[in-house]
Amino acid sequence: MSEPAIESLFTEGRTFPPPQEFAAAAHVNDPSVYDQAEEDWQSWWEGHARQLRWMRDWDTTLEWTPPHAKWFVNGQLNVADNCLDRHIDAGHGGRVAFHWIGEPGDTRTLTYQELCDEVCKFANALKRLGVGKGDRVNIYLPMIPELPIAMLACARIGAIHSVVFAGFSSQALVNRIDDADSKVLITADGSYRKGNVVPLKEAADAAMGATDRVETCVVVQRTGNDVPWTQGRDHWYHEVTADCDAHAEPEPMDAEDVLYILYTSGTTGKPKGIVHTTGGYLTQVAATTKLVFDLKPESDVYWCAADIGWVTGHSYIVYGPLANGATSLLYEGAPDHPGKDRFWEIVETYKATILYTAPTAIRAFMKWGAELPAGHDLSSLRLLGSVGEPINPEAWMWYHQHIGGGRCPIVDTWWQTETGAIMITPLPGLTKAKPGSAMRAFPGIKAVVVDEQGKPVPPGGGGYLTLQRPWPAMLRTLWGDDPRYRQTYWSRYGEDVYFAGDGAKLDEDGHIWLLGRVDDVMNVSGHRISTTEVESALVDHPKVAEAAVTGRVDELTGQAIVAFVTLRGDEETSDALAAELREHVAQRIGKLARPANVLFTPDLPKTRSGKIMRRLLKDIAEGRELGDVTTLANADIVSQLAESSKGADE
Ligand code: PRX
Repeated sequence: MSEPAIESLFTEGRTFPPPQEFAAAAHVNDPSVYDQAEEDWQSWWEGHARQLRWMRDWDTTLEWTPPHAKWFVNGQLNVADNCLDRHIDAGHGGRVAFHWIGEPGDTRTLTYQELCDEVCKFANALKRLGVGKGDRVNIYLPMIPELPIAMLACARIGAIHSVVFAGFSSQALVNRIDDADSKVLITADGSYRKGNVVPLKEAADAAMGATDRVETCVVVQRTGNDVPWTQGRDHWYHEVTADCDAHAEPEPMDAEDVLYILYTSGTTGKPKGIVHTTGGYLTQVAATTKLVFDLKPESDVYWCAADIGWVTGHSYIVYGPLANGATSLLYEGAPDHPGKDRFWEIVETYKATILYTAPTAIRAFMKWGAELPAGHDLSSLRLLGSVGEPINPEAWMWYHQHIGGGRCPIVDTWWQTETGAIMITPLPGLTKAKPGSAMRAFPGIKAVVVDEQGKPVPPGGGGYLTLQRPWPAMLRTLWGDDPRYRQTYWSRYGEDVYFAGDGAKLDEDGHIWLLGRVDDVMNVSGHRISTTEVESALVDHPKVAEAAVTGRVDELTGQAIVAFVTLRGDEETSDALAAELREHVAQRIGKLARPANVLFTPDLPKTRSGKIMRRLLKDIAEGRELGDVTTLANADIVSQLAESSKGADE
């Protein structure tokens, strides 16, 4: 693991505006929540679990055999029942669950009753196609209503979904299908991206051609383009659902049954299948959606602008808002299509009250200019959220002023695919906000910043973020790889201390500042990409002998990917080859993993034991003064590299 540059990440060249009290928000939260939760944190979570509808009560709140937790042991419930039927039974069937906005401008509104009908129909179709409890179903869909419908249909019948972001390549899809051993794939004929049709079915076909696991493929007709078709395997969504009943009994699920697998990048080339279960997960996503966003289901129009292909969308577009009976916006397209004010047009049209998005998006909005939001009526907004990466104070202030009109509280929420739900965040009306700080642990969560030895650091100190108490939405294991689960998260400081992989600092008031990853994982636009994964994609190219990848600071995307590449034999370097390699990575993993720079080098800086000095490469990529390189076996390569990186093109 490389050494984190904690101090420099925190303060270098930055001035911090003074802490602000939140503008007056509706204070639903009782200021004593933190104390109440501390007094008895298990009862605190139990209180939230009681808000859900259980088919069988649990016997024990928590069984903690580090590092394995079981929450609400022997309790039974169904997630789809809680997200749909429970609200309909309470008389809210007519309330809008989703206002969907398609990229070309088409729209669709689904009330809770309509959503439930669609979910039941597809649940029945899946059953007829042979899908049962515990089966894995891969979902590779754009941001269309059928995506949450498919997830909820799986949840209703007890199948385990594994959603793969539609921007991922067919190779990434194959890996995920194979790892989860899915027999069913749900995809679409195409997806819209900035006016173009992306041939999703072709990508799905390429994936299904590379593995023989998929027996059934259900295809949603979205773009209407011609698609290749395999008789017997492929089925149109509209055909398999056409004659299905809009009623399907929700399957009673054990609180610890797996709800979904979601893959995320780790420090090796193989993505980790994060396993989330039913009762604890739903409890914490429901509680955090309610408290962090101060949600009023009867009046709010909530918009989480993430993609459901990532955990943010799973927890805060699908499960958290629906468990609360909220009305959400679901947007298919890009923020800059057809115009760069698309978001503000949507906020104005639908009178959105809550907006939850990533710092990368906020920095793009900043770049596009404050006049764009100023041209729209954003007065409906009352709360803003940030997620996915550290937000720089400049972006925070801009968001506060130009989107929030100076009146909206901002919740900067820290969490991970692994944590399942928000862990560190201010609470509106209760916690002061400091631009750039996620402030304090959510009630019931114990977040501790520790030093190298695992000792808590005092206020003013910096170190590593740990979680020192189990929490309901925590991952339970890695799919098919429990040893890696123990090793990655629970080995550094002992079996009962979760190592998050993030650097953190406490300020003098004890508030938490997240500083970014301390392992070989990059964070590009709020998405985790492992350096090793990109390296594997590069060395897979026939002309590449060796590659080392690092992230460098990027004004817009937080980090950008820089690849140092050594070619085989007498292959010639050229701009065309650099472009080809960038494209090769995009093909292998997905566009978001495309390196911003490819730098050719005759050799990579290595220690005498042969280890690539990544930290040095990062310094080179970021144009920093280089320290002592005398431990290198090939020190002269460093000056050559530093020189060539100065002229590197974006
Ligand atoms: O480094 C942290 C960063 O994103 C990582 C988790 O990424 P992922 O599992 O893809 O989930 C992203 C959405 C929850 C963390 O280890 N991160 C996430 N939120 C923040 C953050 N860094 C700083 N501040 C945040 N609010």
